[in-house]
Amino acid sequence: MTKETERFTLTRIGHPHDLRDQMIKDVRSGLTAEAKSLPSMYFYDDHGSALFEEITQLPEYYLTRAETEILDTYADEIIAAVHPDELVEIGAGYARKTCLLLTAIHEREAGNVYVAIDVSEAALQHAGANLTRTYPWLHVRGYLGDFGSDLDAVPRRGRRLVAFLGSTIGNLTPRQRPGFFRAIASMLDEEDGFLLGVDLIKEEAVLRAAYDDSAGVSAAFNKNILTVINRELDGTIDIHAFDHETRLNPESGCMEQRLRANREIHARLAAIDLDVHLDAGESIHTEWSCKFTREQIETELGAVGLRTTSWWTDSENRFGLVLAKLSSASSA
Ligand code: TRP
Repeated sequence: MTKETERFTLTRIGHPHDLRDQMIKDVRSGLTAEAKSLPSMYFYDDHGSALFEEITQLPEYYLTRAETEILDTYADEIIAAVHPDELVEIGAGYARKTCLLLTAIHEREAGNVYVAIDVSEAALQHAGANLTRTYPWLHVRGYLGDFGSDLDAVPRRGRRLVAFLGSTIGNLTPRQRPGFFRAIASMLDEEDGFLLGVDLIKEEAVLRAAYDDSAGVSAAFNKNILTVINRELDGTIDIHAFDHETRLNPESGCMEQRLRANREIHARLAAIDLDVHLDAGESIHTEWSCKFTREQIETELGAVGLRTTSWWTDSENRFGLVLAKLSSASSA
């Protein structure tokens, strides 16, 4: 067996300047608009990725446990349905749930390559070190970049199982989803599979607790986006002047996270020569977490030529896992 370090590579997709230019554009337009917003991608610096990891272990945050239960029960069935040469995970984070798929891949003697795409270098390093240590047969290829724009830069190494877990799809706005699904479809060949984790519509109280836990980790995570912006753009935003807020938007079926100013704010982002002003009570929209029904997700996948071949849920019907293939692929 080759050494762990030889089995892990990390490649940047998209130039670092592109990422920074993107951030500058996003922050400038988001914080000068009438209805202020920031893209949720900027939560995930190293500290933010670690905080999110903490969220996944909170008693109120049922999503990770429910999805893990499904993977635990059906990983073998999923792998048997695709028999992939490579597992490609988008927004991999610390890649904890991935182990369940990798074990099934090894048992079925499928491929030996795991491709992880994420915006956090620390999360990729963590996943790479962990997984090459746990699986002496595995090659880990990390790609550092934004899955919203850089997916076609990832080379193909055989039959693919593309995984997008954790209901991260819910963090795209309803308007962004069709374009993202189209990009996924164009990553796939006839025999490939797309495995998508979706959080299901449920009682509002359960959702509220998941996004506003009693230990305050969700609040700290939400506020971290301002810490990131202060650091990257030499800013003076007082993060203590903001309160974490979450609510269900009944029209879209999405949980929406905001930061609400508890006093009037005058701040400056020196690196981009921008003055930021918020009235007391004004808010910054930081995240969508949309929730789905099975019908809705199948319809959206169908619209870009992806046909659902399997659907699994956890024992309490909180979370769903979809396996889809290109519609043109013959049903085996
Ligand atoms: N992607 C996670 C989700 O939508 C992010 C998240 C969890 C989050 N809890 C939060 C974002 C609280 C802001 C505030 O489930």
